[in-house]
Parts: sequence; C-alpha cells; structure tokens
Amino acid sequence: MGLLDGKNALVFGLANDKSIAWGITQAFHREGANIGISYAGEALERRVKPLAEKIGCKWVEECDVTKDEHIAATAESAAKHFGKIDILVHSIAFAGRDELSKPYHQTSREGFKNAMDISVFSFVALTNAFLPIMNDGGSVMCLTYGSGAVKVAPHYNVMGVAKAALESSTRYLAYDLGPRKIRVNAISAGAIRTLAAAGVGGFRDMYKHFAEMSPMQENVTIDDVGDAAVFLASDLSKRITGEVLYVDSGFNIMGVQMVKRDEKSE
Ligand SMILES: NC(=O)c1ccc[n+]([C@@H]2O[C@H](COP(=O)([O-])OP(=O)(O)OC[C@H]3O[C@@H](n4cnc5c(N)ncnc54)[C@H](O)[C@@H]3O)[C@@H](O)[C@H]2O)c1
Repeated sequence: MGLLDGKNALVFGLANDKSIAWGITQAFHREGANIGISYAGEALERRVKPLAEKIGCKWVEECDVTKDEHIAATAESAAKHFGKIDILVHSIAFAGRDELSKPYHQTSREGFKNAMDISVFSFVALTNAFLPIMNDGGSVMCLTYGSGAVKVAPHYNVMGVAKAALESSTRYLAYDLGPRKIRVNAISAGAIRTLAAAGVGGFRDMYKHFAEMSPMQENVTIDDVGDAAVFLASDLSKRITGEVLYVDSGFNIMGVQMVKRDEKSE
C-alpha cells in the first residue's frame, strides 16, 4: 500500500532526469499516485515524454507559465483527464544568466520582472487555476532555496529575492486555502546539480561548500526531496500548512561555519 494511493498529482517543472521534479515524480509514482506532468515548451518535449512513459503517465502537457492562455488550457485539459486533483507541485524558476553573475544592484527592470513572473507569480496563478478542480484536503507545494531567501547566498541575487516572495506567497496561499483544508507548503532543497542550478554563478563552489559545511556533511539528492514531497503530499502532514521544510542536511541551521570540524565530533 502506498502513501498516495488513489491520489491524482500534477507536477510542473520537469526538464530532464536531473530535475527535482523528476525526483518528486518518481517518489509519487512509487507511493501509488496517478501523475500528470507539465513542461515549459516544445524544446523539452523529447526529454520529458520518455520520462513520462517510464512511469506510465498519460497526461503530459506543455505549459509556459508566462502565458495566461497556456495555464487556462492546461487546467481545462487536466479537468477533462483527471476530473479532480489532490496534489499540485510547482518546481519552476527562472532568472537570466546576467542577473545571477553581476552584483545584485545591477539587476535590470526586465530581469527582475521576469524572475518574479516565472518564479513567483506562476505559483499563485497555477494555484488559482487548479483550485476549482482540487479536492478538499489536498496539498500544494513549491520549491525554494531558503538560504538565499532569508539570508544572502552570493550570486543568487534576484532569485533570492524571488524565493523570499515565493515563501511569503506560500503563507498567503495557505491562509486562503486553509478553510478547504488544502495545505500549501514549500520545500527548501539544498544545492543539487540541475539545469537551473547551472545558471547560478559560482554554483560549483556552493555545491562543494554545502557538503563540507552542512551538519550531515552530505549533499542532497532529488530522491531526498522526492521523499519529503511525499510526506507533504500525503495525509501524514494534514495539519501542516504555510511552512518551509528544509531538506538540506541541516545546512541552514549553521550560524558560524568552521573550516575544520572539531576532532571529537568526527
Ligand atoms: N537545484 C538546486 O540546487 C535547487 C535548490 C533549491 C531550490 N531549487 C528549486 O527547485 C525548482 C526546480 O529546479 P531544478 O533545480 O530542478 O532545475 P530544472 O532546470 O530541472 O527545473 C526548473 C524548471 O523550470 C521550468 N521553467 C522555466 N521557465 C518556465 C516557464 N516559463 N514555464 C514553465 N516552466 C518553466 C524549466 O523548464 C524547468 O523544468 C526551482 O524552483 C528551483 O529554484 C533548486
């Protein structure tokens, strides 16, 4: 028996088999969910369709979240295919390479708007579009990087500011959807090598630093995030909403980083 037996789940943000969305999709599949997958645009189709086939997923839809008509069409198609849904996952972010390499104060107006539109507003817009077909007691979630949202992660820049707005949106949406017992939470993942991460200046260093400095001294995988997503999607977390759940080997709890650990704790 799986933790998500009988539940319909939609996952937005699959690009390839390195995507966090793929870790989540596989974990949902393992736990018995019936899954629908959405991806950004035609260019990704040839990578996404074979992955969808691997888990027997029949609903695979293109949705560029910058386009209202795409979001509306995707919601309509999901209503036809699934009737109702129980789980909605937003695993989408974008910021131009320029914005993630120059100092933050040089962020352009266009770059700022773009990052906010794709990485934050789309979470609000998707939640609103899918709410009419969402069962009461359902679960909505997004992916954040708290260490860049509430603190400074060098080079993360406008994406950190977007993640702060995403985490705040999580709380406001949790308030709105609470009366229907629909939960809205964010997972803050540790650094993982993905397409999106490759665009962040200095990511390689951040990734290495992460494994060295986190209490558990280990990087996080997309499967670790998938398991946490199962918890948030399942009835086990039915009274948890508006939260940011860190899946980061404890990295975020550190105030002062030691270059070398105390001998006794090794
Ligand atoms: N990789 C990390 O280290 C890390 C850490 C914490 C949080 N996250 C977050 O996890 C989420 C998933 O990212 P990932 O690391 O798996 O990388 P990824 O590149 O695999 O996923 C990002 C997804 O966003 C999609 N996207 C971009 N623009 C879009 C648009 N206009 N319409 C629809 N989709 C669009 C991309 O197609 C892609 O599928 C993001 O929110 C990211 O910020 C990643």
